[in-house]
Amino acid sequence: MPDRTAYIRSVGRFVPETRLTNQDLEKMVETSDEWILSRTGIRERRILDPGLGNSYMAVRAARECLERAGVGAEEVDAIIVGTVTPDMFFPSTACLVQKGLGATRAWGFDLSAGCSGFVFSLTTGAQMIEAGRYQKVLVIGSDVMSSIIDYQDRNTCVLFGDGAGAVLLEPCPEPGHGILDFIQHVSGAGGEFLHMKAGGSLRPASHETIQNRWHYAYQEGRQVFKFAVTEMANVSVQILERNGLKGEDIALFIPHQANLRIIDAAASRMGIDMSRVVINIDRYANTTAGTIPLCLYDVTVEDRRLKKGDYVVMAAFGAGFTWGSILLRWWE
Ligand code: ACO
Repeated sequence: MPDRTAYIRSVGRFVPETRLTNQDLEKMVETSDEWILSRTGIRERRILDPGLGNSYMAVRAARECLERAGVGAEEVDAIIVGTVTPDMFFPSTACLVQKGLGATRAWGFDLSAGCSGFVFSLTTGAQMIEAGRYQKVLVIGSDVMSSIIDYQDRNTCVLFGDGAGAVLLEPCPEPGHGILDFIQHVSGAGGEFLHMKAGGSLRPASHETIQNRWHYAYQEGRQVFKFAVTEMANVSVQILERNGLKGEDIALFIPHQANLRIIDAAASRMGIDMSRVVINIDRYANTTAGTIPLCLYDVTVEDRRLKKGDYVVMAAFGAGFTWGSILLRWWE
């Protein structure tokens, strides 16, 4: 455990007003509410209005987060945005958020790790605090998945939604609390099962890439499922074991929201009953880097389910493949 830890001082979020329900999708592709709900746990997702980009959501989530802490934008030292759907390749979304907030002293960057984007960003921000150089780091998970989803492809279009969450990290005033431990992995071998073929330097936009619908997310769901269901559970169990904890010691498990069956599997391997697992997939679907901070908002702002000293485990799995878990002890 580091001498100095980071803790989550406040949380903010933004979800678009527009809802896309399973019933709406039944009119767009060959699918059914029954299939979507039983295979994934999703009922509806939010969709950002056309003409608005990721930074629109990220700024709003970050602004609420700072307001809740009573911290001015000019006090922020750094901004990390976990995302795979930036407004544009450059400038980074972090730069656009810095401008939108008026965070005059802050530097920052985007971090691309698919659905593990928030977990990787949170541990990166925490280590910046642990190193002693920074006092206030904003960590945002924000994705406009509707901008890279093919609404003619039933394999993917039912799974994703748009949303953003933000947390403010500060040095924890009390030892033994805050972000205590993490485990992270990547395996590029998984890239073939979940990727976006075009739009990068390998295949810049062309008539061919557009015709082939290569600017949309491609996923071989069954392959991804096999890895996700095993590896997300493995890292969740490992972080408990190496910290001498059992499932019963954990107040809340906050998993990435890709599929209720993957969440179920991880929780049961950890020995955590579903009443202590945070779920929002029914309302928001998979918002990629947004899922975990949106869940955190539900259990800290909407309902006050965490108290000082509670252990929390977060875990994610996503494109890359990327996966990881975090152990934290709540302090407020
Ligand atoms: N409606 C109706 N039928 C469908 C739909 C749909 N929307 N989508 C697929 N089907 C069909 C398939 O065509 C297939 O038909 P077939 O048997 O005739 O070939 C059948 O349903 C079963 O398809 P599977 O893909 O095997 O279904 P599965 O039970 O695996 O569920 C799902 C699919 C939900 C995608 C699941 O595999 C999954 O959750 N995978 C993991 C997703 C994930 O964790 N992603 C990582 C994060 S994403 C990120 O990082 C950006």
